[in-house]
Amino acid sequence: MPSQLSHRVVSLVAWVVFSLFSQTYGINASRPNILLIMADDLGYGDLGCFGNNTIRTPNIDQLAKEGVKLTQHIAAASVCTPSRAAFLTGRYPIRSGMVSQIKKRVFIRTGASGGLPENETTFAKLLQQKGYATGIIGKWHQGVNCESRNDHCHHPLKHGFDYFYGIPLTLLNECQATKDPEVDVELQATYWFCTQMVALLVFTLLLIKMATSFPVKWKTIAFITFCGVLFFISWFADYGFARYWNCMLMRDHTVIEQPINLENAASRIVKESVTFIERNKKRPFLLFVSFFHVHTPCFTTKIFHGKSQHGLYGDNVEEMDWMVGRILAAVDRVGLRNKTFTYFTSDHGGHLEFREGNIQVGGWNGRLKGGKGMGGWEGGIRVPGIVRWPGKVAPNTVLDEPTSLMDIYPTVAHLAGASVPQDRIIDGKNLVPLLREEVKHSEHEFMFHYCGSHLHAVRWYQKESGALWKVHYVTPNFEPQGAGACYGIKMCQCFGDEVTHHNPPLLFDLSRDLSETNPLSPASEPLFNMIISQMATVVAKHRNTLTPVPQQLDMYNIVWKPWLQPCCGTFPFCWCNDESNNDTIIK
Ligand SMILES: *[C@@H]1O[C@H](CO)[C@@H](O)[C@H](O)[C@H]1NC(C)=O
Ligand SMILES: *[C@@H]1O[C@H](CO)[C@@H](O)[C@H](O)[C@H]1NC(C)=O
Ligand SMILES: *[C@@H]1O[C@H](CO)[C@@H](O)[C@H](O)[C@H]1NC(C)=O
Ligand SMILES: *[C@@H]1O[C@H](CO)[C@@H](O)[C@H](O)[C@H]1NC(C)=O
Ligand SMILES: *[C@@H]1O[C@H](CO)[C@@H](O)[C@H](O)[C@H]1NC(C)=O
Repeated sequence: MPSQLSHRVVSLVAWVVFSLFSQTYGINASRPNILLIMADDLGYGDLGCFGNNTIRTPNIDQLAKEGVKLTQHIAAASVCTPSRAAFLTGRYPIRSGMVSQIKKRVFIRTGASGGLPENETTFAKLLQQKGYATGIIGKWHQGVNCESRNDHCHHPLKHGFDYFYGIPLTLLNECQATKDPEVDVELQATYWFCTQMVALLVFTLLLIKMATSFPVKWKTIAFITFCGVLFFISWFADYGFARYWNCMLMRDHTVIEQPINLENAASRIVKESVTFIERNKKRPFLLFVSFFHVHTPCFTTKIFHGKSQHGLYGDNVEEMDWMVGRILAAVDRVGLRNKTFTYFTSDHGGHLEFREGNIQVGGWNGRLKGGKGMGGWEGGIRVPGIVRWPGKVAPNTVLDEPTSLMDIYPTVAHLAGASVPQDRIIDGKNLVPLLREEVKHSEHEFMFHYCGSHLHAVRWYQKESGALWKVHYVTPNFEPQGAGACYGIKMCQCFGDEVTHHNPPLLFDLSRDLSETNPLSPASEPLFNMIISQMATVVAKHRNTLTPVPQQLDMYNIVWKPWLQPCCGTFPFCWCNDESNNDTIIK
């Protein structure tokens, strides 16, 4: 009797200890690891498994074969910062203030004060609270500081990640010393013009002084010359130092390489990802691998150089595929393939306008119209999506239903046994029932397609009929006209003279016209008026759910503030290389 009792007590104690331990350390056999892989600027038509027969992406193709291919996977924005904010929070970025009302739509300086607000809850934070080890390796692009150099209020470690290795901003042409700068091109032109004007003024004053008795004081000339020199220096600093200011590598809170050495960045991203997986193989983990690839300048390691049929861009895509392969191999090696929910996507469409001379250095969006920067056209927002979850999700499946990158938020929360915040609107929908074929149709009936803070288009998926209506209220003006992109200004704009407003709006049925070439009219589409008025009602309802929030991408929050500049030395002497740069390619 007593022995039986003590046996029960022991079991009970063991169970309690186990439960506490499980809850604290997240040991829960039913909770999968989460591996999220995001490419940067990869187009819908850039992968073998999405119909490209000349580019070689065997590893990603294999992933699709082992899982579900999401063919109507939609980003919440057509540029990086807002799209990623939406991905991380499961909310349209207009809800978090991560959209812009001005021309610049992303952060272009690390020393800016805008960023993902502290009161937004990322999926990383939800999973961290559930005992997951959470890491982000690669690009962040959601801001760094608010008020002082090291407050790191927008930093990944403030947003639920235990570990960060990567760049706080994005790749820029400046990051590769041999490329033409892109961030401050206009600013530099202005500087140069002003510098020349100052020089001219000084020269004229000198001439006047020499030639006439007009009393120009030497002091005045000296003063103006001094100002001119200072001006020139600041121009030069901005020109040459953009690389130091913006291209840096961080590990957790520390800047470890400034400027970043791109030579071996690819293999270091792989190495860090593999190490993270190995280090956390005994507990559930969330790893967000946020590639620098295939963003320009498309820096590619020598062994991939000139190997693809599509120049530097194609080489970069093939290198990215190789990286995916190395990371997935690590998952296999530690025996976690079946316990890992693996996801692959791109943050938005390919950048059609990025060319160097006649060479295309931006992505390809297949049959879709438009690309990066265009909030309404399909090419800007429809991206490749792949989910693999062996034993849980049928292999070799294609899912045409509308899904959003924002769906990952409630999906991973569900997988981890976490609940999503109840005090705010979450726009994403849990994908698990759809992926497991427990339901036939997506929960997304309407989706809103913003360009900056401007609503450009809305889609309506009519489950019963299968129609996929899309109305465009605003479309960008292509340059030159009919070119399908804004080659003249490098990226299409969202408002002002660069767009056309449509009244009545343009209407397409994507289920019949994926390339959005034949707008419907009341004559060709009997439902025309009904659809337009239904959309108007839905838009009004959606607008009612928006509340004013602080704008993170306004002029004040995107300008460079020297006191916020992340720096590994003593500002302004910011350069360091704490990394051993001896890593060779992992074969
Ligand atoms: C494959 O991708 C390359 C690089 O983006 C592109 O130039 C090419 O047109 C694509 N081919 C097909 C068939 O989609
Ligand atoms: C992993 O899942 C697949 C598909 O359900 C199954 O065939 C295989 O045996 C599993 N492997 C292990 C090691 O459990
Ligand atoms: C394990 O996870 C499942 C599903 O997420 C959850 O329902 C369950 O309560 C968890 N169990 C423990 C012991 O944490
Ligand atoms: C975060 O704070 C801002 C400013 O106080 C507020 O407008 C916004 O609604 C808050 N967001 C959430 C999700 O609580
Ligand atoms: C590279 O490795 C060598 C030998 O291991 C070491 O002496 C050297 O300092 C390393 N280089 C850098 C840049 O860290």
